[in-house]
Amino acid sequence: MSTTSVSGAADLIAGLPADFRWGVATSAYQIEGAIAEDGRTPSIWDTYCDTPGAIDNGDVGDVACDHYHRMPEDVALIKSLGMDTYRFSVAWPRVQPHGKGPVNPAGLAFYDKLVDELLAQGIDPWVTLYHWDLPQELEDAGGWPNRDTAYRFADYSMMVFDALKDRVNTWTTLNEPWCSAMLGYAYGAHAPGRREFPRAIEAVHHLLLGHGLATTRMREASPRKLDIGITLNVATAYPASDAAPDVDAARRADGMGRRIYLDPLVHGHYPADVVADLAAEGAELPIQKGDLELIAAPIDVLGVNYYFSQKFSGFDEDGKTTTDDGLPVSRTIPLNKPRTAMDWEIVPEGFTDLLVSIAKDYPGLPMVITENGSAFEDTPDENGFVADEGRTAYFTSHLAAVAEAINQGADIRGYLAWSLLDNFEWAYGYVKRFGIVRVDYDTQVRTPKQSALYLKEIAERHRSNR
Ligand code: NOJ
Repeated sequence: MSTTSVSGAADLIAGLPADFRWGVATSAYQIEGAIAEDGRTPSIWDTYCDTPGAIDNGDVGDVACDHYHRMPEDVALIKSLGMDTYRFSVAWPRVQPHGKGPVNPAGLAFYDKLVDELLAQGIDPWVTLYHWDLPQELEDAGGWPNRDTAYRFADYSMMVFDALKDRVNTWTTLNEPWCSAMLGYAYGAHAPGRREFPRAIEAVHHLLLGHGLATTRMREASPRKLDIGITLNVATAYPASDAAPDVDAARRADGMGRRIYLDPLVHGHYPADVVADLAAEGAELPIQKGDLELIAAPIDVLGVNYYFSQKFSGFDEDGKTTTDDGLPVSRTIPLNKPRTAMDWEIVPEGFTDLLVSIAKDYPGLPMVITENGSAFEDTPDENGFVADEGRTAYFTSHLAAVAEAINQGADIRGYLAWSLLDNFEWAYGYVKRFGIVRVDYDTQVRTPKQSALYLKEIAERHRSNR
């Protein structure tokens, strides 16, 4: 590891709060495998993976990182990397295989053991209740566009909560509801692969309702003060110029990516401009009496997942501002930055701008970075070690962006890297690697990359400065 990168890091950790948490994150479907064990039923992702052409290479989650069988080894790995927090998700089809009805004790037992293992190693467990693996039976009943799914989610959440609330202090209801709703139901890029924009907007509301119902019930059943929240994928939407159509395109992107979630969660209403935009597209949020009060149930922590930001234009390539359907043009314009293997531009200043804007628009909401990381083309040496300079530099610049946001007044309490392991990157399968630890999928051998050693060093330095 180059000493310059770590010594540069010394400056950036100087401004972090003393109790800043350092951790890593994963999700169930991306690492567990064991899709048919101990009573687990198929989720929408198992079905989607079986759809020809849906996933690059025809990859599936059947084995993934085999974490279900290697959990103690993986917890020891987290410990060896000096991390104090581990954010993982619970697979709904393991715990409640039919999406309703009784708990499956064998499925729940896995997470019970995981929590005990983490606590035994001195690692704080952080549970995400939903990271996209909806039981297929609930999709067959209509999925997230069906209001009933929100109530099913709250019931399932309470099964997990009641089993683990004595030992788990931090709870996230949903991971990235934008992806569940828009990639899943509007763009057909994620399970269940539907392309029905109005249904996607219904899904947005029912996901938020599910969050509100679960949050309210968990709060009522809390044995002590616990931290309950939600994780959003959010970014800065820059206008391509000061021209009104460009400014409006950025406004619309910010509305659909950030404000449509945060406004109801924090302020108790959807943004009026977004509601009007949706109406123009023939879509409506199916709000019923009392929903907005539930959705605005106070949260203790906002999880922020950040990967990149984008610039938006309201002009098409011919200079027109309206599409053939009569809708305003919206397109992304390159920022001309280097890109990761996902073809995502590397925009750390967008991270600072985002965090500062959330602090300003939604004051009093503590944040934790629940995901940040990057995929690069990794080349292991003969020992399986990856000197991942690109990923390491990404962490440096993005940690500096977080430090700068704190410096500008944002209340940010921790940083969890995505991801502990190379894993199943959804529609991209196993080709895109986000891990700070390399996984050899032939042998399941785990080898920490340079970026893992780098983050370990930073976390340890920060801790020793306390
Ligand atoms: C966010 C998602 O939560 C995670 O599952 C995914 O792997 C990363 N983004 C990278 O795309």
